[in-house]
Amino acid sequence: MKVKVAILGCSGRMGRNLIQAAHEHESVELVGGSVRPSSSFAGFDLGELAGIGAIGLTTATQLSELTDADVYIDFTSIETTLENINWCNQHNKALVIGTTGFSDEQVQLIEKAGETMPVVLAPNTSVGVNLMFKLLEVTAKAIGDYTDIEIFEAHHRFKKDAPSGTAVKMGQVIADTLGRDLNKCAVYGREGITDERSRETIGFATVRAGDIVGEHTAFFADLGERLEITHKASSRMTFALGAMRAAFWLNDAPAGFYDMQDVLGLKD
Ligand SMILES: NC(=O)c1ccc[n+]([C@@H]2O[C@H](COP(=O)([O-])OP(=O)(O)OC[C@H]3O[C@@H](n4cnc5c(N)ncnc54)[C@H](OP(=O)(O)O)[C@@H]3O)[C@@H](O)[C@H]2O)c1
Repeated sequence: MKVKVAILGCSGRMGRNLIQAAHEHESVELVGGSVRPSSSFAGFDLGELAGIGAIGLTTATQLSELTDADVYIDFTSIETTLENINWCNQHNKALVIGTTGFSDEQVQLIEKAGETMPVVLAPNTSVGVNLMFKLLEVTAKAIGDYTDIEIFEAHHRFKKDAPSGTAVKMGQVIADTLGRDLNKCAVYGREGITDERSRETIGFATVRAGDIVGEHTAFFADLGERLEITHKASSRMTFALGAMRAAFWLNDAPAGFYDMQDVLGLKD
């Protein structure tokens, strides 16, 4: 049976791809979507917003107009997502969160919500990226303690948070594997006289330019050789299809706080 989904944040770059992915997906049924109450896209046909032609569903401005869905897929903003979690929790709905940039305290709030509702927090819903997290774990275990580890990411000029949620997650996976505290070992950018690099640090570098969809590389560098693990997204559809996979999986899951590793069965 198809899982009924609603897209929160329909007029966004991701929202439009999510509408198309949900409309065309064999395992989900798109039942609605939301835009901000003041949005000029209020009342628009979802299909026209996504550029696939009218599909007979119009944008809602309140979640109370969108009660038919089993799973809600949220790619909006931090403030909006935090409000949407409360609504989903109160209405026994499952939620896939693609929004990024949450603070540690905000992640704890989402984790707490997972005690009473099924929620997937996925700063990157691409299947390839989540496989990369697994490869980082394996690599860090094998060579992490004697290589210099640096994480590079590049995104389009409109992205508001830095480093990307995916880059932070890459650092977190590596730090956890090596028993390091990312809050203490992360170095965000370098300038001027910085002294020699300490082996324990994990460096981050960020580029914002043009329409880059998303690129991430982890460097494990020793003297004489370096290993680079890279993922490049060429279209937002990869994130949208991964979000559909998460929604389909979450529909059958009990209350809990999950990530894409759970969705893809990559946890040990
Ligand atoms: N997990 C992943 O794989 C992944 C991939 C790409 C992006 N992201 C993240 O997803 C989020 C959205 O990215 P984006 O590039 O699509 O940004 P975007 O183009 O700014 O889209 C966000 C959309 O949310 C809408 N919105 C804000 N408040 C709302 C509300 N109360 N109700 C309904 N809609 C509301 C905004 O409407 P207005 O335009 O009217 O403000 C906007 O259309 C960001 O946090 C981004 O980092 C995650």
